[in-house]
Parts: sequence; structure tokens; C-alpha cells
Amino acid sequence: MLIRRHDASAPPASEITPRAIWRDRRQLIAAAGGAALGGALPTLSPTQALASSAIMQGGDPKAQKLAATPSRLSTPERATPYKLVTTYNNFYEFGTEKDDPIKHAHRLRTRPWSVKVDGEVAKPRSFDIDELLTLAPLEERIYRMRCVEGWSMVIPWIGFPMAELIRRVEPTSKARYVEFVTLADPKQMNGLAIPVISWPYMEALRLDEAMHPLTLLTLGLYGEVLPKQNGAPVRLVVPWKYGFKSAKSLVSIRFVEKQPNTSWMRSSPEEYGFYSNVNPEVSHPRWSQATERRLGDDGFMQKRRSTLMFNGYTDQVASLYSGMDLRRNF
Ligand code: MTE
Repeated sequence: MLIRRHDASAPPASEITPRAIWRDRRQLIAAAGGAALGGALPTLSPTQALASSAIMQGGDPKAQKLAATPSRLSTPERATPYKLVTTYNNFYEFGTEKDDPIKHAHRLRTRPWSVKVDGEVAKPRSFDIDELLTLAPLEERIYRMRCVEGWSMVIPWIGFPMAELIRRVEPTSKARYVEFVTLADPKQMNGLAIPVISWPYMEALRLDEAMHPLTLLTLGLYGEVLPKQNGAPVRLVVPWKYGFKSAKSLVSIRFVEKQPNTSWMRSSPEEYGFYSNVNPEVSHPRWSQATERRLGDDGFMQKRRSTLMFNGYTDQVASLYSGMDLRRNF
């Protein structure tokens, strides 16, 4: 997510990704060295293999492991190295630079933690994080993720469909949208001192989008519990939308009748619409969305790859938007 800067010397969006790739090249070389050890390993279960590949790619050997069943909804594309996934982040509560979350998110306390679910539901209640970890079978979903800034990654998330949680609270007939509110605690989050957007970070989906089988309530990645910089202890992942819809460190889920105004819509309504589906045909007012750079794969000198409609998930999600003008509903 890019903030409108009035400083004329600020780098344009097109310069941001190449700089990051340059910086991460050394990490990628290290990751490739680790992968070469793979042949020496005994045969492992998919989850063990996932965990050990995370370690070889620089995963945190001290992190709590999370068992998950591989999902048929995963993309077969090569996952972005763990090191990039966990060091190149957007989490503005900890600062606006890509390496701010890895530097500052260690201050986040993820226990005790609960997520309040209320609004237009028959059974409002709170879910403790340890209950969420066992609420439904955990799946490993390898998803393409596309940031509005023009870069993308492939990330092996662990979680369960948001629909599993929604079913348990029984939305009423008035529930048409779902709001996701994330933690805003200035004692833990240095970035809140700067009003980049209106805190707390708030995102929303239409109820049918939230119920879609691809929408993942996410508790881990790369075989381990979510690293803090990636939105611990629980976040949303919506792979056919720009990354900013995937709200991190959720504390509240609220079912409502009217379309909510999200934090990004409030701060810049002409740039960030409610739907925010990945759409190469609709440019951001300040740059094109037609292409992207896959971090870790597409080198600085290589051509950017074409961005796919709905981030490549057209077959699964296009029917949600049939009859809608996606230029108006951007
Ligand atoms: N959630 C919160 N609470 N705060 C944020 O700043 N950034 C969003 C999204 N969720 C953000 C957030 C943006 S712009 C992106 S691209 C993704 O998180 C990045 O997720 P990742 O760092 O795990 O790749």
C-alpha cells in the first residue's frame, strides 16, 4: 500500500520493488544453498517436509510448528522464500517501511488474545486464540498474493475457511457485510503515532465474499504459527483481492447491514474502493495494475509478468461479481 506523499523526492512506485529485490538477492542466494541440502533428508510427511523446507529457507527453528493438510486449492507455483515472506512486509501499525514490521513487531503480545464476533448474528461470542487453532481442520493453502503496489508473492498459508467460523455464529438475514477490525494499541505498536490511515485498521467484505471457500482465516505460514510481522496471531487472507484487504492481527469481526467504509476508503476514496479485486484493466489513479514483479522470481532485469484478472482465481470467484461494472466497483 502506498501513501500519497507530497514530497516530490519520494520514489515512484516503479522504483520500490527493484530496490527490494536488489536488497534481498543475498538472502535468496543463501536460501538456494539451503535447498541443495534437500536430497540428504529422509522421507517426511507433507507437514514435516513443509516445516523442514521452511527451516532450510531460513524459517525460525524456535517457532511453534503447526500441522496442516495440503489443500487442493493450492497453486502449484513455487513458494516465495520464507525470508522474503517474513522480512518484506506491510504492517503500518509498526511503520511504513517494508523492514519496519520485522524490526518492531516483536513488541506485539499475542497471548492472551481473543476475537470478538458480533453484530447481525444469532450467536455473538468471543473466540480465544487457542480455540481458533482447533476450531476446524487446518489446511495448508499456497496462494498467490498481489499487492496494490505492483509486487506479488506465493505464500504457503495455514488456516481454515472463514465460512467455518461464520457458520458457528449464525448470521441473521440482515447480515450483508462483514467488518474486520485489527489491534490498535499504541503501547505495542509504534506506527500508530503517525496517522497514516484512521486507526484501527479496518477492512470489510460482502458476506458472500467472506463465505467463499478461498477466504482463509489464517493462523500460520510455512509450517509454523504466524510470525508477528505477518499478522499474528490471526489474520484474514483473500487471495483474489489486493493484499490490503487481508487484515492482520484481527480483534473483531462484525456483521452489518450496510456497506462499511474501510480505513483505506476513508483515507483515499478515489484510490481505494470497497471491492479492490485484482484487476489489470483498472489502473490505480497513480500507476497501472497491468503487470507485477514476483518477488524472489522475477529479477530486476526481467520483464514484469502480466497481472491476471482476480489474481488468477477467475474460475472460482468471477460469479460473485456477475452483472457488476468492475470499473465503477473497483
Ligand atoms: N493489516 C494491518 N492490520 N495493517 C496493515 O498495514 N497491510 C496490508 C495487509 N494487512 C496491513 C494489514 C497490506 S497493504 C498488505 S500488502 C498485506 O497486509 C501484507 O501482508 P504480508 O506482510 O503478510 O505479506
